[in-house]
Amino acid sequence: MVIIINASEEDLDQIYKIELESFDNPYPYSLLKAYLYLSPNLYIIARDDDNSILGYAIGIVQNKYRGHVVSIAVRKDSRKKGTGTQLLLELENRFRKEGCVYSYLEVHYKNEPAISLYRKLGYYIIALKRNYYRRGEHAFIMVKPLNSYRPVFE
Ligand SMILES: CC(C)(COP(=O)(O)OP(=O)(O)OC[C@H]1O[C@@H](n2cnc3c(N)ncnc32)[C@H](O)[C@@H]1OP(=O)(O)O)[C@@H](O)C(=O)NCCC(=O)NCCS
Repeated sequence: MVIIINASEEDLDQIYKIELESFDNPYPYSLLKAYLYLSPNLYIIARDDDNSILGYAIGIVQNKYRGHVVSIAVRKDSRKKGTGTQLLLELENRFRKEGCVYSYLEVHYKNEPAISLYRKLGYYIIALKRNYYRRGEHAFIMVKPLNSYRPVFE
């Protein structure tokens, strides 16, 4: 059974390994570590029965009302089994608990697996950020309303 739990420092080596095999421009180890302190409740991992990490997701809350999906990745040999879905749904629940009214992310405009996952979970494209990653490497901005309650006056 796969469980979703908070990440901790002991998980960083495995998280970094997943990062390296998942992205052309991976986040440095130091940044992945920094998020553990910046956003401890929105840094989650999917853990297998044998204690190995299948994937991770990092989010942050911006301006108290929007959740930003900083990163999400699943180990290459464990993809297409629902782990990405589990991670993202859990992250969204945590955004809701923090009072976020929507979740958003950037995704490479040619990253079909990720775009397909996001669409399936209710995200839609609202903009194209040209040259977001580097020259010629554009990003879609995708958004999902979270339907959580937030008082108008605080
Ligand atoms: C994107 C990613 C996290 C998806 O994780 P996953 O565990 O494989 O996703 P799931 O098994 O939950 O898939 C859910 C849906 O996503 C879509 N999807 C996932 N992999 C896909 C693929 N290779 N091709 C097309 N659609 C795909 C499908 O719609 C799928 O639903 P289905 O199984 O009913 O067809 C994974 O492919 C990954 O780690 N990619 C590299 C890192 C990355 O690009 N992260 C996103 C950065 S913005």
